[in-house]
Amino acid sequence: MTMLAGGSSDEFKELVRSRTDIVRLISETVSLHPHGRVFKGLCPFHDDHKPSFDVNPERQTYKCWSCQEGGDCFSFVMKQDGLNFRETLEMLASRAGLEMPATLRRGPGDSPEKPHLYDVLGWAENEFHQCLLSTAIAERARNYLQSRGFSNAMISKFKLGFHPESWDWLLQRAKGRFDVELLVKASLAKEREGRSGYYDQFVDRVMFPIHDERGRTVAFGGRILPDSTCKPDAKYLNSSETPVFSKSRTCYALDIARDAIKKTGTVLVMEGYADCVKAHQGGILNAVATLGTALTESHVTVLKRLAQKVVLVFDGDQAGINAAEKAIPRFLAQEVDLRILTVPDGLDPDEFIDQRGGDALLELADAAPEAFEYQLRLMLSRFGTTTVDARQRVLDGMLNLLTLSPGIIGTIKEDFMLGKLPQRLGLTELEVRRRLKQLRGQQSSQPSRASERKISANGPSDDDEHRQRKQVVDSLQRTANGDDLLECELLQILFTHPHLTDHVRREIGTNDLRQESLQEIMSLWFDLLEEGVEPTFERLLSRTECLQWKRLLVWIEEQARHRNVTKSVTDARTMGTETAEEALRRVIDRIRWRRNIDANQASKSLLIERPSETAKLTAETRHLLEQAARFHRERTAK
Ligand code: UTP
Ligand code: MN
Repeated sequence: MTMLAGGSSDEFKELVRSRTDIVRLISETVSLHPHGRVFKGLCPFHDDHKPSFDVNPERQTYKCWSCQEGGDCFSFVMKQDGLNFRETLEMLASRAGLEMPATLRRGPGDSPEKPHLYDVLGWAENEFHQCLLSTAIAERARNYLQSRGFSNAMISKFKLGFHPESWDWLLQRAKGRFDVELLVKASLAKEREGRSGYYDQFVDRVMFPIHDERGRTVAFGGRILPDSTCKPDAKYLNSSETPVFSKSRTCYALDIARDAIKKTGTVLVMEGYADCVKAHQGGILNAVATLGTALTESHVTVLKRLAQKVVLVFDGDQAGINAAEKAIPRFLAQEVDLRILTVPDGLDPDEFIDQRGGDALLELADAAPEAFEYQLRLMLSRFGTTTVDARQRVLDGMLNLLTLSPGIIGTIKEDFMLGKLPQRLGLTELEVRRRLKQLRGQQSSQPSRASERKISANGPSDDDEHRQRKQVVDSLQRTANGDDLLECELLQILFTHPHLTDHVRREIGTNDLRQESLQEIMSLWFDLLEEGVEPTFERLLSRTECLQWKRLLVWIEEQARHRNVTKSVTDARTMGTETAEEALRRVIDRIRWRRNIDANQASKSLLIERPSETAKLTAETRHLLEQAARFHRERTAK
């Protein structure tokens, strides 16, 4: 790590920014493709169906044309990881190999436990791993993993570990290092019920550490040893949700599999940790797993940013087939090529790979049917097509799938799916469509079911976030008319022609702007000049720590580029072309004109408020009257 000698916080922010390549940063979580001067991808901040997300390497900014989200490397990490500014600075600094100056470490607004949670979880992972590798007490665990055919290479790649059969093994080791409360918060220990004291959460279990996309340890899955005398309730035990761990968003092994997923454009989603590790051992490097829950919409949202094709791999037993059937309706409308693979012969992927190898599973995955097709085959094998009744059942089953996905109405995907049915069921297309209409009609007479489903799938928090985002977007769009537009135009000219700043400062002051946030932006811009720093858009971005502001800045700057202010300015009213200097003259004139109108209004109302004093003509009133007269003269002269 490089130590930074002294340095103000602004300098440090700028240093961190200059050492961070936003394209590389964002492509760690979003698959980006070059497109002209920008990179395009699916927006990670809303449910994006076509790539509306631009990353601009020149400006080092990002912007979504659909949800209006935008900002720089700092806001991206703040939004994406839910960190505050200081935490983000720390994260990006360490990523860039820079050490935070002591004065910048930890601030009042930091969520205090998050960094500590990562610390204690990372420490525990290491303890479990070392225990498995090199203690006598872990021999049973080593034998167990060996008997299941896990290689040493996988044990170290996935940092598998062991928690021995003792109820305070970890608590003892944490003494003097971590508070017991922190262990509890990290879901590594629990408070005893009914009496005082604590005990370890995972006992006599093989430990599978769970990482977030950036590779930080956030949770564990623990598998009980088969000969354990602990009599556990469950074969696998997972960490509870904590501030750093959300089960419904996290995919096991995504940090390890990410590159392979991006390279192949395909991800295999397993149900179990063991299956996933075995897949990697068998050379399937694009395998991840869910964490004992069914795949959620959040999972799919994360995965489809990296891959076009998602193969859900289920056990070949009845439970696996049921799980597959349950998953299909939930993702049918998603803009992703969803494939379903149930492993043959009642095996689970782990056993299948042991018996036939990873390549054989990959072949099955390549040939796995698309979700609707999978369901159709399943229903056909279940009911057959020999009787009218059977055909009716298959048809209704398949059409009901479509009615459960309102998002699919009128899409090519729907046409494609409907196209499969007539021939396979010996019906005409008209009959199929008529029946679909009937079923949809029935459904819309019970609207509550569809809307309930939608709410529970998205979860309340996403909903709130969406509403908040909408408010911001709305207010941004309001910004785009009248006075605000004029003020934005001024900022656009400044951002693209910083050398005009001094001139502007001599002509108008920040108080001449009416929009409060634009006023603040302008005074920050002037501050730069005052400090003897050359004002640049990038520096300005560094100065603001607030997400909304960054978004606003990027929005203003994007408008400038859109209108090509860089070379000359196209006047929206006349559609004529003017130079930046001409545009600036026009904008300044209008702002000063507006200022005069304001002053005139003010003097008029002052006169009205104090009619008795007009007779006395105080110095103040005389001044106001003179001002009003001058204003009227100027106006008639225009
Ligand atoms: P399975 O019961 O299919 O186990 O659970 P498995 O993956 O074949 O495990 P092994 O091979 O016996 O070790 C699949 C997944 O469901 C979750 C875990 O995430 C597991 O990996 N699970 C299972 C639990 O959370 N709790 C349980 O008690 C069982
Ligand atoms: Mn298994």
